Amino acid sequence: MPLSVVILAAGQGKRMHSDLPKVLQPLAGQPLLQHVIRTARALNPAYLCVVYGYGGAEVQAAFTHEDVDWILQAEQLGTGHAVMEAMTVIPDDHTVLVLYGDVPLVTASSLKRLIAAADAGALAILSVNLDEAAGYGRIVRDADGRVSAIIEHHDADATQLTIREANSGLMAAPAGRLREWLLGLGRDNAQREYYLTDVVALAVQAQDRVEALLASNATEVMGVNDKVQLAQLEACYRQARARDLMLAGATLVDPARVDIRGEVEVERDVFIDVNAIFIGKVHLSARVKIGPNCIIRNARIGADTEVYANSIIDNALIAEHCRIGPFARLRPEVVLHRGVHIGNFVEVKNSEIGSGAKANHLSYLGDARVGSDVNVGAGTITCNYDGANKWPTVIEDGAFIGSGTMLVAPLKIGAGSTIGAGSTITANAPEGKLTLTRPPQITAGSWQRPAKLAPDEHAAAVDRVIKAPKS
Ligand code: UD1
Ligand code: CA
Repeated sequence: MPLSVVILAAGQGKRMHSDLPKVLQPLAGQPLLQHVIRTARALNPAYLCVVYGYGGAEVQAAFTHEDVDWILQAEQLGTGHAVMEAMTVIPDDHTVLVLYGDVPLVTASSLKRLIAAADAGALAILSVNLDEAAGYGRIVRDADGRVSAIIEHHDADATQLTIREANSGLMAAPAGRLREWLLGLGRDNAQREYYLTDVVALAVQAQDRVEALLASNATEVMGVNDKVQLAQLEACYRQARARDLMLAGATLVDPARVDIRGEVEVERDVFIDVNAIFIGKVHLSARVKIGPNCIIRNARIGADTEVYANSIIDNALIAEHCRIGPFARLRPEVVLHRGVHIGNFVEVKNSEIGSGAKANHLSYLGDARVGSDVNVGAGTITCNYDGANKWPTVIEDGAFIGSGTMLVAPLKIGAGSTIGAGSTITANAPEGKLTLTRPPQITAGSWQRPAKLAPDEHAAAVDRVIKAPKS
């Protein structure tokens, strides 16, 4: 049967106490709804729509990159009402799968089981056994163990509240049948809403087959209603990704203290120390070592490269055998070739650094093309900004830049040249030569060290300079 997927995302999420619509709250760095759309896509649906309402424009604006149909639920009258809105565009011969924008980690394999049961004519709901089912609808079964209804937490009596089998909210059904059951929904309940869950009792009444399929684990059906649940889900996600890395051969000093907000790929024998944060797409090649407290976003790091403690890498391509940090900062658009050393308190932005080049201490390299085997002395700065424009600096192969040098761009430092320490270089330096700017050294004959002043003398001295009328 052709598949239509309906994602419910119109609710406000009152319990979040947030200005951000619930489905835009981030899990692993991506909106909750993004996770659900990704999973829906994996099912190759013939039709995919998102029912939106609260924070509509903001929600749509966050997903302009996604080719989905948007169905407006102007008034949020409940999950059943939301599905009714979507059913206006779904043909009877489809199988409909309902997903919730606030249940982000459901797996495609569980959903495929639901779809298969619905393709065979049943109303299939995904349920889960929970030790603590507060907030969830409960699956009510008759004496023969057949599903007879779902009762919402708010509407359940004391006995029903003891039921541990909870409703994930996700369901699949033949579209034609679902349309008919939906006609029977009312709002006579604690929340005055059209509950989607009431279709279960209506299907039972109509003698349609209802199947509750158990989810493979509790996290995949965890709903996010408040910030506590959001943090719990984030922790589950983090644990799962840490496990993936370890199973792929990485050594994690403490799997509870690595934070993965995106996709990380590791090759053999990668070592990751505590409190590393990975964001976006990160690839760590064989034997890469990541020190403690590093933040790495969208980067590819070559084999045997070591990143020492407290370094930040954002959008960089790093070759093999490099050494970075501690306390290094690579800002976007950096390419490091083989064997480059970027040391402590060195900031690099939009620059390409040739193989074997070193900038080991306290430097800024911005908009620079640095050749191979260049040595950038401590305290060197590429002065790339004139207050209005950014300018490039080119340092050719084998150049040696003395410590404390200002390179006022645009500028080219010739191959094999040497720049004397403390220079302010404003014009191109020729190849193979020593170039420097340096005021002469003087020794003052009459100067003496200042003596300690009494407080009133000190105050008077300050007043003479600071409060004196301008001449
Ligand atoms: C729902 C289920 C409950 C289940 C739980 C699992 C119903 C009536 N209850 O309860 O049985 O155990 O999920 O997480 O379905 N939404 C709309 N339009 C609306 C109302 C909600 O699009 O008018 C969307 C929300 O944005 C959300 C989803 O539907 O993504 C679920 O709504 P929510 O209010 O969170 O339902 P729960 O109370 O959690
Ligand atoms: Ca919910």
